[in-house]
Amino acid sequence: MNETLVQFRSVGVRYASGAGEVSAVRDVCLDLHSGETFGLVGESGCGKTTLAMGLMGLLPPAARVDGDIVFQGRELGSLPESERRALRGDRMSMVFQDPATSLDPAFGIGGQIAETIRAHRGVGRKESKARALELLRQVGIPAAEQRYFDPPHRLSGGMRQRVVIAAALANQPALLLADEPTTALDVTIQAQILDLLRDLQRQHGTTILLIAHDLGVVAQICDRVGVMYAGQLVEVAPVAELFARPEHPYTRALLDALPGKTRTAGPLRVVAGEVPDLADPPSGCRFKDRCPQRTGDCDRTPPLADAGAGRRIACWLSPATRAAAARQAPGKSPTPVGELS
Ligand SMILES: Nc1ncnc2c1ncn2[C@@H]1O[C@H](COP(=O)(O)OP(=O)(O)O)[C@@H](O)[C@H]1O
Ligand code: SF4
Ligand SMILES: [Mg+2]
Repeated sequence: MNETLVQFRSVGVRYASGAGEVSAVRDVCLDLHSGETFGLVGESGCGKTTLAMGLMGLLPPAARVDGDIVFQGRELGSLPESERRALRGDRMSMVFQDPATSLDPAFGIGGQIAETIRAHRGVGRKESKARALELLRQVGIPAAEQRYFDPPHRLSGGMRQRVVIAAALANQPALLLADEPTTALDVTIQAQILDLLRDLQRQHGTTILLIAHDLGVVAQICDRVGVMYAGQLVEVAPVAELFARPEHPYTRALLDALPGKTRTAGPLRVVAGEVPDLADPPSGCRFKDRCPQRTGDCDRTPPLADAGAGRRIACWLSPATRAAAARQAPGKSPTPVGELS
């Protein structure tokens, strides 16, 4: 369970744009363990999709990647494009927000899954069709045999997303990236799709990286959660821990935004404002312009520090962050650890 499948090592992604450079992901360090469901959460524009596309090798040419992304022990940046293409749809696959864009409108749903299998596995038509049918049944398509030749538009949005998930799992990937897979769906359908992902994860042991802008979604199926803000990872924790004891002011704000959630203790947490323009991000802590607990120290970037028990946090309010900074630059720590309440 704790074997490392993916390592992001100081990963940064910058997009060249007319207005200069957009720092979409900055200095992300994170390990994903085999067999876990990891939730990556943050408001829109925080760099979640960019990080996922970096892992898939699907960033646009204008993107510059710093650091290393290691998958099954191989540093992906050093692989030729042909090898990365071979990994996609085979060892790693992705489910996007809108199922309509992932399926070819002109072909039957079953054939599209069978094609994915043939492309990577070199098996015959009969075998790939049998496997596609089995997958359609597994993801809960009723009367799969009859629906096999249906084009995507004959299915509801929820059913289409099930087909996309079946196609993504066709070759039993080690990693499934699901980028807001339920955002475009009705609430009741959302819950069904999340249940499906959880069941499939249990059956196949697939590692899932689930991206969401809503903590409620990751709470349903994730083992661990990483909170991203303005391109940076600001807190990582096991899901129950994060909900019981959110530490980062941004995590608290996200929790307080959940419907029906009682407010976390402490100062006012409702955070006005927006994710900063990543073409010109604030120096130091990128959350400082919205943070109700900002101090003079926050003009320096807080390092993401190990706080024990599987938690990591990047905030000057945390003794772990302050201790890590003191180790990195002895004598330059803003206020000695322990002098903050
Ligand atoms: N192709 C691109 N060119 C320039 N900037 C981009 C591009 N794609 C995304 N961005 C910018 O990168 C930042 C992160 O975007 P994204 O990864 O889509 O965030 P999220 O998935 O968390 O909503 C945003 O500021 C967005 O505007
Ligand atoms: S480092 Fe400072 S500004 Fe950033 S979240 Fe912590 S207290 Fe707020
Ligand atoms: Mg996104």
